[in-house]
Amino acid sequence: MILIENTVKKVRETVKEWKSQGLTVGLVPTMGYLHEGHQSLIKKAVNENDRVVVSIFVNPIQFAPNEDLETYPRDLEKDSLLCNSTGADLIFHPQPEEMYPDGFSTQVVMNNLTAELCGKTRPTHFSGVCTVVSKLFNIVKPDRAYFGEKDAQQLAIIKRLVKDLNFDIEIVGCPIVREADGLAKSSRNTYLNSSERKAALILSKSIQLGKKMVADGEKSSQTVINAMTDLIKTESLAKIDYVSIVNAETIESVDTISGEILTAVAVYIGKTRLIDNFMITV
Ligand code: PAF
Repeated sequence: MILIENTVKKVRETVKEWKSQGLTVGLVPTMGYLHEGHQSLIKKAVNENDRVVVSIFVNPIQFAPNEDLETYPRDLEKDSLLCNSTGADLIFHPQPEEMYPDGFSTQVVMNNLTAELCGKTRPTHFSGVCTVVSKLFNIVKPDRAYFGEKDAQQLAIIKRLVKDLNFDIEIVGCPIVREADGLAKSSRNTYLNSSERKAALILSKSIQLGKKMVADGEKSSQTVINAMTDLIKTESLAKIDYVSIVNAETIESVDTISGEILTAVAVYIGKTRLIDNFMITV
């Protein structure tokens, strides 16, 4: 059965031992309640590294007071079975006090890349992510770390973080994994009741529409955004947070579609906020 460690000290000792044997280490940072999306990251990490650490930590500092920290789904037993069967070697599952002991005072704040998209409605979220990810990088010291493209802004931010702070870590982005009907896999999909689950398909439908328009040669961001917005508005349970087109690296809005762009949506289905996106190079 897979090893589960709760302390920074134990993880460091284990990784140090692996490194002394010349083994490479991959890290898959997660908040748990793992699904096939996480599993695809773990699989890739297992293929590309000698040892794989999966961190499972619902990071309190990336949730605003009005968000779902308390209700965020957790199931360590099921998660450890998935990690074990997928070939991971170690789960790092710290308690909040281990990561943020009394007196903790440092935050990693990114100025750019955080203003648009999710940063607009979640202004403190990405400093929480940058802080915890920096800590995980320093604790595990992996050769590679794996993140899903569903959180495309987070992925761009982490790539920038690694560049800016000279972490000697390769960041590997992995494609979105979807349900058979198109809904992007997310731990938060468990919040949806059956009518909301059906309504949630409007996200992937809008993504398909936007992708087709761009693939067919549409160059005006606003035209694509308008069409996607109109489609989402046909779903009565949906409330749009944003529909945006940005440069995939800088996360700055673009008027004309060219280069590597990220088209992203965030939509409330009932009380559940879901995201989806596509990236394309034009
Ligand atoms: O994407 C997530 O699950 C989280 O934001 C991460 C990267 C594990 C940091 O808590």
